[in-house]
Amino acid sequence: MTHDSLSAAPSGTFQIGGELSVTRLGFGAMRITGDGVWGDPADPEGALATLRRLPELGVNFIDTADSYGPAVSEELIREALHPYDSVIVATKGGLTRTGPNKWPPCGRPEYLIQQAHISRRRLGVDRIDLWQLHRIDPQVPRDEQFGAIRQLMDDGVIRFAGLSEVNVEETEAARRVFPVATVQNLYNLTNRKSEEVLDYCERENIGFIPWYPLAAGSLAREGGVLAGIAGRLGATPSQVALAWVLRRSPVMLPIPGTGKVRHLEENVAAASLTLSDEDFQALDEVGRQEWHRTLQAD
Ligand SMILES: NC(=O)c1ccc[n+]([C@@H]2O[C@H](COP(=O)([O-])OP(=O)(O)OC[C@H]3O[C@@H](n4cnc5c(N)ncnc54)[C@H](OP(=O)(O)O)[C@@H]3O)[C@@H](O)[C@H]2O)c1
Repeated sequence: MTHDSLSAAPSGTFQIGGELSVTRLGFGAMRITGDGVWGDPADPEGALATLRRLPELGVNFIDTADSYGPAVSEELIREALHPYDSVIVATKGGLTRTGPNKWPPCGRPEYLIQQAHISRRRLGVDRIDLWQLHRIDPQVPRDEQFGAIRQLMDDGVIRFAGLSEVNVEETEAARRVFPVATVQNLYNLTNRKSEEVLDYCERENIGFIPWYPLAAGSLAREGGVLAGIAGRLGATPSQVALAWVLRRSPVMLPIPGTGKVRHLEENVAAASLTLSDEDFQALDEVGRQEWHRTLQAD
């Protein structure tokens, strides 16, 4: 595949909450921090260059969280891109950080409200375009957590709100308290645990943000499950993995993460990769087989 049309634009657009237009192929800003999503990145200049390349490539949807670093990801986004122009920065709250790879949830309403205020200040915006509850905290009544989100919307701290790692029942419970604009769940070609949620989001026109779209790079590996089809299409495995999720649903908003301009450009080129019906089906089959193997091994 050539890089002559290096733009996210061919992935099309989606209106978050029916109003906020984003290019469907977005960017995940968790990988611009240190090991274990903790502290500064090993290559801060590379991280800033990756972020600055986003608008040049037509990527106008960035996913981050207060807990990435913590604070590091939001700070770098501000340093690289403020005042953002057409870039939409979506952030999350509800997880605390006690060390590398440690993410204890905290869904107490006062904490969620505080964190949204802090993110708004750190990002340097009047109102956060999209704020997502990182996890429903099982120790706190969920309606209290949803009520905090309702309050943040009513107070103008956030414009639209979403959830992460939820099922259909939880999404419906949240929708009784505030309009759910997005759901962010683990989803990729070889992890299908959220098929039902994805179908629900498609029916309800809720943006579905699949995190881990490259299975942390394992789907991008040369010689992996996608290598055969990718070779025939003249594309890389990561491009095939992204083209597949983009084709899977019009509400799909993948946010592949990288701290490298080279990988970003490779991923953005996936927006121009059109899969035939046969290739889409063949990939679906490969992915389902892998998923069933994983389930059997568990
Ligand atoms: N809601 C949640 O609970 C949750 C959880 C996890 C993540 N997220 C969000 O989802 C985003 C994406 O998830 P993720 O970062 O875990 O997984 P991912 O996007 O599937 O994979 C990212 C990994 O793949 C590598 N990679 C990216 N592009 C590549 C390419 N073209 N070729 C080879 N390797 C490549 C990256 O390394 P390099 O840096 O070396 O390129 C990185 O290690 C995150 O950034 C974050 O915003 C949300």
